[in-house]
Parts: sequence; C-alpha cells; structure tokens
Amino acid sequence: MITPGTIEKIMDAARIDEVVGDFVNLKKRGVSLIGLCPFHNEKTPSFNVSVAKGIFKCFGCGKGGNAVSFLMEHEHYTYPEALRYLASKYNIEIEEEKPSPEQQQAMDEKESLFNLSAFAQKYFENQLHETGEGKATGLSYFKERGFTLETIRKFGLGYCRDQWDDFAQTALKQGYKKEHLVRASLCKMKDQMLYDTFRGRVIFPIHNLSGRVLGFGARILSDKTNKPKYINSAESDIYHKSKVLYGIYFARSPMASLDNCYLVEGYTDVISLYQAGIQNVIATSGTALSTEQIKLIRRYTSNVTLLFDSDPAGIKAAFRSIDLILEEGLNVRIVLFPDGEDPDSYARKNRPAVVKEFLEKQTKDFISFKTELLLGEVRDDPIKKAQLIKEIAQTIALIPEPVTRSIYVQKCSDMMEVEEKLLHATINTFRRQKSRKEREKTARTDHSAIQEADIQPAVHDRPGVTESNDSQEKELIRLLLNYPAKEMLFEIENEDQRPEQVKINVAAFILQDIQSDNLVFDNPLCQAIFDVFAEQWETDSFSAQKVFTEHEDEAIRQLAIDLLSNQYVLSKNWEKRHRIYTREEQEDIKPRVLHAVYAFKLKKLERMLADNQQQIREASSEENPSETALGELIKTNRDLLSRRSLFAAELNRVVTR
Ligand code: CTP
Ligand code: MN
Repeated sequence: MITPGTIEKIMDAARIDEVVGDFVNLKKRGVSLIGLCPFHNEKTPSFNVSVAKGIFKCFGCGKGGNAVSFLMEHEHYTYPEALRYLASKYNIEIEEEKPSPEQQQAMDEKESLFNLSAFAQKYFENQLHETGEGKATGLSYFKERGFTLETIRKFGLGYCRDQWDDFAQTALKQGYKKEHLVRASLCKMKDQMLYDTFRGRVIFPIHNLSGRVLGFGARILSDKTNKPKYINSAESDIYHKSKVLYGIYFARSPMASLDNCYLVEGYTDVISLYQAGIQNVIATSGTALSTEQIKLIRRYTSNVTLLFDSDPAGIKAAFRSIDLILEEGLNVRIVLFPDGEDPDSYARKNRPAVVKEFLEKQTKDFISFKTELLLGEVRDDPIKKAQLIKEIAQTIALIPEPVTRSIYVQKCSDMMEVEEKLLHATINTFRRQKSRKEREKTARTDHSAIQEADIQPAVHDRPGVTESNDSQEKELIRLLLNYPAKEMLFEIENEDQRPEQVKINVAAFILQDIQSDNLVFDNPLCQAIFDVFAEQWETDSFSAQKVFTEHEDEAIRQLAIDLLSNQYVLSKNWEKRHRIYTREEQEDIKPRVLHAVYAFKLKKLERMLADNQQQIREASSEENPSETALGELIKTNRDLLSRRSLFAAELNRVVTR
C-alpha cells in the first residue's frame, strides 16, 4: 500500500495542466486553460483546466475532477495505478507500507478466493478438453451450439463432471480450505459431506476487468428437466453480481475504440456475437441492469445499444434499462430481435456480415423504439396517444444534459406531431417533481414534515430567494470554497464609540454568522463541507481546495469541483442588476457574501415561519386549545415575522445598494 506521505508528495507535485496536457491540447484563455473535451464529442472547446485550483471541468458534459480522477477517467486506471503513473512522471519514489493485520486478513481472504477461482477455472477447462465425459458431453454440447474451439478457449469455458465430489476432493488435496470452497459457491455441504455445486454442467467463467475469475455460471445440458437451467455463483467477497458485466474483460478495448457497446442478456449471446466478429458485447447475465454496471460501461464508452428479445418480458426489461441508462447520462439505442430469436440464435443462423448489417440497420433511438412499438395501437386513439407522449416525455426528463434533452424533444415533436413547447413544459414538470422527491428524500429529519408548498412566498421578487431548492446553500458554500481568505472591510463602533474599520475574512464571517444562529443546511453535502470548514479552518495548513477536491466521498468531491469551477453563479437577476461577472467578483466580494448569508437565513426563516403557522393552525383546531401554548406560538410568529422583515430589508439594501 502506498503511504499517505507518498500520496501527499504525488498530489503536491502533480500539475493539472501537465497531466491533462499529455492527452489534451490546451490553450490559454484568461486565467484558465481550455481545450476540446476528451470525454465527449465537441467542436468548440468547453473543457476547462484551472492550474490554481488543480482541477478540470467540462461545461459541456459536466465531468470534473483533479489530476488523479482525470487519469482514472481517461486512462481507465484504478486509484493506485493513477498514483503510480504520476509518481513515475514526477520521479517520486513510492514508499509502501505494510497493511494492518485486519487489512491483511481481508486481503488474504479475497486473495484466497481469487486463487481458488483461478484454480477451479483451470480445473473445469481441463475436464472439458481432457476427460472422456468432458469431451463426450461438455465439448460436444458447445460444438453443437456452434462455438469453435478457439472461442471455447478464449472464454475459458469448462465442464464439471457428474460425480459427487470430484472437484472438492481435488481442491482439498491441493490445500484449498473447505470454507473457501463453500464461500466461492463451488461446493455445498450436506450432512458434513462436501459435494460439487456445478456437477454435470458446462461452465462459463466470469472475469473482472483485469481478467481474473470472480465466479461462474453453469448451464445444464438438457433443456428437458425441471432443474434450473443455470446455477450461478452466489455473492461473495470477490463476486458482486450488480457490479460485474459478463464479457467486459474481452469487450473493454473494442468498447473504447468503437465508442459503443452492445448489451445483451446472456452468456451465450455474448459468445456467439463475439464469434461473429462483434467484440464490443457484454451481458447482465440474468439480473436487471444496475447503475453500478452502467458506471462500469461509462469508463469505456457513453454509448449503449440494447439487444433484446421481442417478447413482453424482453420489452419490459428494455424500457427499464433505457430509463436507467439515460438517467446516468449515457446515450442509448435499441435493437429488437425478430420474434423467437435472440442474439445467439440469430448470430448462429446468419453469416457475420449479415449480423453486422442487421445490427446497423435495426438500431433505433429510444423514441422511435417506443413509438413504433406502440404507435400501431395508438394512432387513432387520442387518449392513448397522449398517454404515450407523456411516457416518452417522462423518459426524456431523465436525461441530465439539457442540450441532449432538447434534441430528443425535437425528435419526439416530429414523430408524434406535438408542439415542442408543450413537450418542454411537460418535461419540466416531471423534472420538478423528480427533484422535489429527491429533496424530500435527502431532507434532514427535523424538516421533513414541512413541505415546500407550506412555505409562504413572502419575498418572492428578490434574487436568490426565487430559486427554490438549495441554490442559496450552494452559493454560500461556493463563496466559502473559492474565497475563504479574502478580506472584507467592515465599519464598527469601537469602545470610544468612534467608527473603526475592521477586516474579516470570508470564511470567518460566514462560519460565525451561520453558527451563531445555529442554522443547518438542508443539503447534507453542503452541511458536510461546512462542518469540515468549521473544524479545520483555523489549522495552518488547511487548504479548502485540496481538502475537498481530494475528498474520499465522491459526492462531496463532485459538488466541490462544480462550485470551484464557478458553474454556479447566483441568479441572473443579480448579474443584470450589478453587471458583476465572475471574473471580477473577488474584487467586490462583500456584497456577494452578505447577500448569500441573508438569502440563506431568509429561506430558513421562511421555513420556521411556515412550521410555526402550521402549529398555530393545529393548535387552534384542537377541541380545547391551550391558551398559553397558542399564545407562545403567536409570540414566536411575531418574532419570526419581525426578523424576516429585518433580513428582507438587509437583503434589499445589499441588492439595491
Ligand atoms: N439465467 C440464469 N438462470 C436461469 C436462466 C437464465 O441465471 N435459470 C441468466 C443467465 O445468465 C443467462 C441469462 O439469464 O445467460 C439469459 O437467459 P436465457 O436467455 O434463458 O439463457 P441463455 O444464456 O440464452 O442460454 P441458452 O441460449 O443456452 O438458453
Ligand atoms: Mn439463448
């Protein structure tokens, strides 16, 4: 393990412009460098690199991070691989430290399972090719399915003989432990007897990204039995179904170079397509597609083509996967196979060139897919048509990127003969609903009872307050991250009641002000950043940019990077009224900070007021309202109201200054 000291040395040495510059042609523009984003296709550069902040950010596709995350994204390195790359680039000697006993044990466990799986794979492969039973049943089965020897070797296919404990005995003799055999699903225990899980089945080993075997799928030879067709390895320390894609080890390079991947359902679909020359193919292997799997795909390409059977189950699964893929910001296309065919059977019946052509011709975007599938029954039925449009709008609403969204809006508008404006409105409604639901989910428990609708919009026309959700919170954190040490001049009255000028820096001002009122953030990420600030701000070596852009929590890292790249500027109103642009904002930071603090507090007050008014309503609708309790509540109400007008006035003063 690389020592923390070494990691720090590496991070200090790494210059973002030099690291990125090895892969992207960067040009100077203003204080930052700019280039064509390597993570999405673009003609005008929106990929920004800030040397001072040590980060990159693409305003087109949203990707952002530091030198290490750039290498992880761009070169598909793991974290330690990226560190080693940087160490060698900057001639830093890597110090390694011995892991703790617990770490060592966890690693040993995993390593044992990996070793055992590798052993089992070789054993099964050997059985397939070298034993009488293996050749007669296993190998002939694969050949009957049209797999060539080369393919069978490539995917490491195997066979487990139909003996009670053939494998178990061999493995035990080799020194593998009983409990590991069971934990890796290779054996089962019955009445103190160990027996082979996969006996009498052909074996499909499942590889991870670096080609190590994690687990197995085992298919029965005859379809005429009531036993399950496949038995798969159960979850273990090394095998997590939802994080693995079958075939990814063979497909990852072609996926990256062809910038697309075909996603199929089963082991045999992958193998048959691969054999037909389509190598960028992977499978979910019988489970529903997960977001983790999509993230895995995204390391190599952001284009997914789903290949599905045209039975109702296949179509339903396709609909679900489409939504999930779009939501993760990837592009999705669909190929539906003719009735009764799947990729495996189709690839077996047709020459590779025909398969290729079929895939090219049949690939549809998701709107055409949904429309063509449903339009037949819908065409003359306005109610059904409206329902279909709504469904498509709902799917478009999941796409995070506005430009992509509007491209699909155009397409849908053309196909369904409905106005773009109307579609945009529908989509915006869905997006609002979605973000409200997410907010409710993340809202802190003490506020969870208060709905957005309960908040009375009292100061509607002021910038910063008009935006619902957490824009005030983010603005506050943005200022904290970008200008913590920037000094602001305040005039106070000194002991002799004389005006005196004092300097307070941005961080101290914000921290004190928010803490003294005991206010909390609704957005847990903002709160987390604020807490770290409160705790570490006074320490000498504290660097906000470093702490957060290298933070271990990905969500915190991302938010910090977004806020540091000045993507969140306050409201457009503010820009217009003040003609302040981000470039100059640090010259005139004080009104920004005051505005942010007041807007934040005002929003909190609005909540407290709404909460209080609700309590008043409840208290006064009781059978015997308690006079004193009600009196207290009303007093609080008055108090809150006067604080609100105070803040509103302050805010107004800052804005119209
Ligand atoms: N699957 C499973 N258990 C089953 C059936 C299916 O785990 N009882 C998983 C397997 O990963 C399989 C995938 O779902 O590869 C797709 O199922 P299916 O299309 O039925 O299997 P195929 O791989 O196409 O197998 P075959 O062509 O041999 O029928
Ligand atoms: Mn099949």
